[in-house]
Amino acid sequence: MKTQNPPSKSVAIKTIVIFGATGDLAARMLLPSLYFLDLDGLLPPDLRIMGSARAPMDQASYVNSVHEHLAARPEGLDKVVWKRFSARLDYCRADVTQAHGLKDLAAHIGDDGAMFYLALSPSVYAAACEQLEAAGLTGGQSRIVLEKPLGHDLKSSRDINAKVAHAFEESSVFRVDHYLGKETVQNLIALRFANTLFEPLWNNLAIDHVQITVAETDGVGDRWGYYDEYGALRDMVQNHMLQLLCLVAMEPPADSGADSVRDEKVKVLKSLRAFTAADAQALSVRGQYRGGVVEGKSVPSYSEEKGGESLTETFVALRADIDNWRWAGVPFFLRTGKRLPERRTQIAIQFKALPHSIFGSAAKDDLIANRLVIDLQPNEDISLLLMNRRPGLADVRLKAMPLSLSLDDGGRRRIAYERLFLDVLAGNPALFVRRDEVELAWAWIDGVAEAWRNLSMTPKAYAAGSWGPPGAFALMERSGREWLDD
Ligand code: NDP
Ligand code: BG6
Repeated sequence: MKTQNPPSKSVAIKTIVIFGATGDLAARMLLPSLYFLDLDGLLPPDLRIMGSARAPMDQASYVNSVHEHLAARPEGLDKVVWKRFSARLDYCRADVTQAHGLKDLAAHIGDDGAMFYLALSPSVYAAACEQLEAAGLTGGQSRIVLEKPLGHDLKSSRDINAKVAHAFEESSVFRVDHYLGKETVQNLIALRFANTLFEPLWNNLAIDHVQITVAETDGVGDRWGYYDEYGALRDMVQNHMLQLLCLVAMEPPADSGADSVRDEKVKVLKSLRAFTAADAQALSVRGQYRGGVVEGKSVPSYSEEKGGESLTETFVALRADIDNWRWAGVPFFLRTGKRLPERRTQIAIQFKALPHSIFGSAAKDDLIANRLVIDLQPNEDISLLLMNRRPGLADVRLKAMPLSLSLDDGGRRRIAYERLFLDVLAGNPALFVRRDEVELAWAWIDGVAEAWRNLSMTPKAYAAGSWGPPGAFALMERSGREWLDD
């Protein structure tokens, strides 16, 4: 039986409360997103934005700090829009784990619909939900937005989800994976399901393997307090990378409704082959950056940033296998890391080699199997590598001819959170992660983490500015493949 999409609720949200309003995410992503929505006239005129954190601050200082962050952005500030936007801003000091602070907030909000955005460490999500409920803030008029990672493992994620479910109906819960808000990630669904060209080839008969790379040049920097407890496996693979894998691997959903798509992603997660300690050494690599040079600049090691030794990985490469009819025998290679040589989020679908070449020995070395490369950032384009004949009178020689489609229309690229805010306001859950998705992803990740623990697999060093430890290359070589463009 088909699961029904939760009914979208036409509640007018009058206040967005950002818990963690003085943090990195709020400053770099959430407040700029809201400002840009205001710039485009997309925020309801009477919407208020309430920042909240434990630090004492009055409204004027909070508005000043938001001004500082927005004015420092390359886009600059529009005076008229800032006037309108700043009039929406207020600050309420509160510890979200304590009852008294939330009482003040409840007085501010009254009976109106509110969106509570938890831009906080996941370790306080459960307490926050309890206190919001105790303060009477979780009724039918409220929505809660939870940042990733939702927990640290399956158990903690279940505990948080249970607390959230006690306080809010599932249709009021929005679990963020900001990759789903990226235009390019949504394009993946269009590429697969709005074209007849690829779908007949999208399986183990035609595809040799899939590579998903999320490479960052930035280091962990000031975020080590959070990062050291999570590492790249929990920070990136559990959420963003598994979401990308699901979108590549899922069956065509019946429609584009939230639960139709999420049901298909869940089937992929259920088909992921569990990691065992016996496999982990051969199928995965953990790394941690040392000092080095990235984009021409010398950068410190992770342990220098942290101010002490650590066994947390800043790089992961692993092979995932999906045990179902479509993907049996097609490895998915995932790779993510900080302080890599370039910023690149890319999905490469490598098709199989020709079963037989008619072109003779001269052309043999030129032959490259077809490949579809989807670049999500920093460039947005799709390129299909096809073979063509080299011009000339000599023997037939072949050359690769990438057919490239740039998706960049020259306009400002929206921050993923802009779309996500609008969807929460509209009560549309399609680009948010369902509870079962989060828990299945954790179940698989727990298997990887446990295998690492059992094998005492500590992170191997890599120089900042390199593509990770040598093991990342060996992982590919063992399966007779190689990473693209290293
Ligand atoms: P930060 O450590 O920079 O900020 C945490 C914020 O939470 C601060 O404003 C802090 O202020 C506030 N805070 C901490 N404890 C409480 C409490 N008990 N009650 C109320 N406020 C509290 O974290 P980030 O902004 O980096 O991350 C927030 C969340 O967003 C995390 O879940 C993270 O995983 C997620 N995320 C972050 C991204 C990023 O790029 N930063 C990207 C994607 C997700 P104060 O100490 O004054 O209370
Ligand atoms: C966040 C991680 O979820 O995603 C960060 O916590 C990472 O560590 C970031 O840097 C990457 O997002 P984007 O949109 O810059 O690719």
